[in-house]
Amino acid sequence: MKAHIAVLGGDGIGPEVVAEGLRCLHAAAKSFGHEIGITELPFGGVAIDSHGDPLPSETLQACLKADAVLLGAIGGPKWSAPDATVRPEQGLLKLRKELGVYANLRPVKVLPALVDASTLKPQILEGVDLVFVRELTGGIYFGEKKRDANSATDVCTYTVAEIERITRVAARLAQRRRHKLTSIDKSNVLETSRLWREVCARVMRAEFPDVALEHVLVDAAAMHLIRRPRDFDVIVTENMFGDILTDEASMLAGSLGLSPSASLGDGKRGVYEPIHGSAPDIAGKGIANPVGTILSVAMLLRHSLGLDAEAEAIENAVTLAIESGARTPDIVAQGERALSTREMGDAVLARLPARG
Ligand code: IPM
Ligand code: MG
Repeated sequence: MKAHIAVLGGDGIGPEVVAEGLRCLHAAAKSFGHEIGITELPFGGVAIDSHGDPLPSETLQACLKADAVLLGAIGGPKWSAPDATVRPEQGLLKLRKELGVYANLRPVKVLPALVDASTLKPQILEGVDLVFVRELTGGIYFGEKKRDANSATDVCTYTVAEIERITRVAARLAQRRRHKLTSIDKSNVLETSRLWREVCARVMRAEFPDVALEHVLVDAAAMHLIRRPRDFDVIVTENMFGDILTDEASMLAGSLGLSPSASLGDGKRGVYEPIHGSAPDIAGKGIANPVGTILSVAMLLRHSLGLDAEAEAIENAVTLAIESGARTPDIVAQGERALSTREMGDAVLARLPARG
């Protein structure tokens, strides 16, 4: 097949990890006989520097035309002064909104070879395999913002339609997995959460009677995620709770650097990015873990291009590389040698099927 991908390296370690993701994408494409075109575009802080806009219109147009978007990370101290009016993060939120990618899938799967890389005990982690479906284009991230000398306001709004569609995405996913859905909210305090719980329950009752639904309050969920993570299958939650809980959950797998994501809308086009940030403290050192991005490439192949075998080939190559001992500094055991970003990419590439 022929496909075109818009590539947004962004800031900090973004371009470094995206380079490894692209090498795996090209290698997989070659061995399965696909033609994949790439356009690299300015995005985030670097685009503020070059265009005065974190999402220049040429970048947005190219993303709208592409089959999928591969993104690194954005942000950094240079653009985060408290009084800055233009911020890299605004570009990311606008991109998500303009592309209509309201469902953010963030899987967390613990590899047996990495149970010792986590800060949690191995017996808690064995067999953990869950996926978050984070609502991505609504809630407090997108509500009205106000600021005056003595106060600041961020409005949180959800509509029935927004809750219905995200519930359906999560429920369909649960039907292909272990038929269990956990909806996380703060319905003892927030009106948006009471609506969330009500709508989610109604959709599940009417359309997905084969999926078991449970509601958990967000504070309790934060605790249960590290107390009994194996019990979760699919988790659906609103934008900000999803942002917070997925960083927490990534530590089950051993490192934030291992977690991929897919942001999907109603069509095939999606945005694929590791869940980590631009990590300015390690940028340029060549030591960032590229696995989150490489696994995001696998999700891109599966969800936007419909190439399941190719996606699995990349996921298997990552597992094999890790099983054979390949470790970047974030997951290396004390006293062991850590690989650079590039060497980790090499370790995965070496385990992809040979050119067909
Ligand atoms: C994420 C990030 C973003 C978010 C930031 C960079 C705006 O933390 O994708 O999880 O909060 O959505
Ligand atoms: Mg986040």
